[in-house]
Amino acid sequence: MFDKINFKIPLDKFIENALYHPKKGYYSTKNPFGKEGDFITAPNISKVFSEMIFIWIISYWQKFYKNKEINIIELGAGNGEMIKQIIISSKKFNNFHKNCNFKIFEKSEKLIKLQKSRLKKYNIKWLKNFDKLDNKPVIFLGNEFLDALPIKQYIKNNGSWYERYVKKHGKFFKFKNIKCDIKKIEKKLNLNLSNKHKFLEVPFEAIKILKKLDFIITKKRGCLLFIDYAYTKCEMIDTLQAVKKHKKVNLFDDVGNADISHIINIPFLKEIVKKLNLRLKYTTQRNFLLNLGIMKRAELLSSNKNFLEKANIFYRITRLIDKKQMGELFKVIYIYKKNNKFNLGFK
Ligand SMILES: C[S@@+](CC[C@H](N)C(=O)[O-])C[C@H]1O[C@@H](n2cnc3c(N)ncnc32)[C@H](O)[C@@H]1O
Repeated sequence: MFDKINFKIPLDKFIENALYHPKKGYYSTKNPFGKEGDFITAPNISKVFSEMIFIWIISYWQKFYKNKEINIIELGAGNGEMIKQIIISSKKFNNFHKNCNFKIFEKSEKLIKLQKSRLKKYNIKWLKNFDKLDNKPVIFLGNEFLDALPIKQYIKNNGSWYERYVKKHGKFFKFKNIKCDIKKIEKKLNLNLSNKHKFLEVPFEAIKILKKLDFIITKKRGCLLFIDYAYTKCEMIDTLQAVKKHKKVNLFDDVGNADISHIINIPFLKEIVKKLNLRLKYTTQRNFLLNLGIMKRAELLSSNKNFLEKANIFYRITRLIDKKQMGELFKVIYIYKKNNKFNLGFK
């Protein structure tokens, strides 16, 4: 895509290329995390975030698989901070730790290198796919994973449906809407959408991955836990965004040098998950972290610290749980097989 002067490609192909082109894609060339990067994610704000995820995992294991081995697989591990803190916490619980197999499923070669160098002390395996997974139950984890996957967009105009493409002419990119057969798309999804919506954002890549994960947890047992930027209104809106140096930028301003993501539509995700015979529960990040005891952990952590250190711990936790910051924008999404009564964090 970067080498061609003129082209027209569907939006999802454009996103895939902008993020993962082997030489010029964003995730193939950048380390986007933290102050010096383009955005900061919850595990990099405070280690207490990952500690709360750890409490959820160990509680799940105790309820369903106590004294049995499990696989814990992080999807899209970024700089590896979350899994690192989960492993550090698990080492304090010997019986749990000896039953855990930690694995990472990551697409970016550059980030795999970074993860391998940051996590060399820990016993982690990197997976290229899920084909050779043994038969142990699996907990899949993903923080800001679903919202980083490519999407397609469809627009209804004067009774006709169009798919959004990206057209490049010389140096310039622009959107181009091309007529499409929405019935074909509905058939592919096995969902009736065109009479309820005027605009659709469809995460085909996420659906493909969810199908694979469904197959795995159906065969081997387990569940999925995602933490993502998500909204709960049924009506779909255009949520595509590009971010550079902690600010939103125009999608076409600096292709390959800005992150591209979208916001998950929970009702739509719920329908997709239902078709896979799975169930979905969600709550806000705020509610989840408070339920798991983030404030108690913060008090304990800060008990022997000086004033500045204490303030820093609470400032970071406020970013995670404040209603106007990440607390309500981010949702924790638990996907499981039916008849599973595990509710920790979701009350
Ligand atoms: C927004 S980052 C989040 C990173 C990390 N989870 C965090 O919270 O800091 C998205 C991560 O998902 C990875 N990723 C995106 N698409 C993927 C795919 N199809 N398979 C595996 N990893 C993927 C990216 O390379 C990146 O590591």
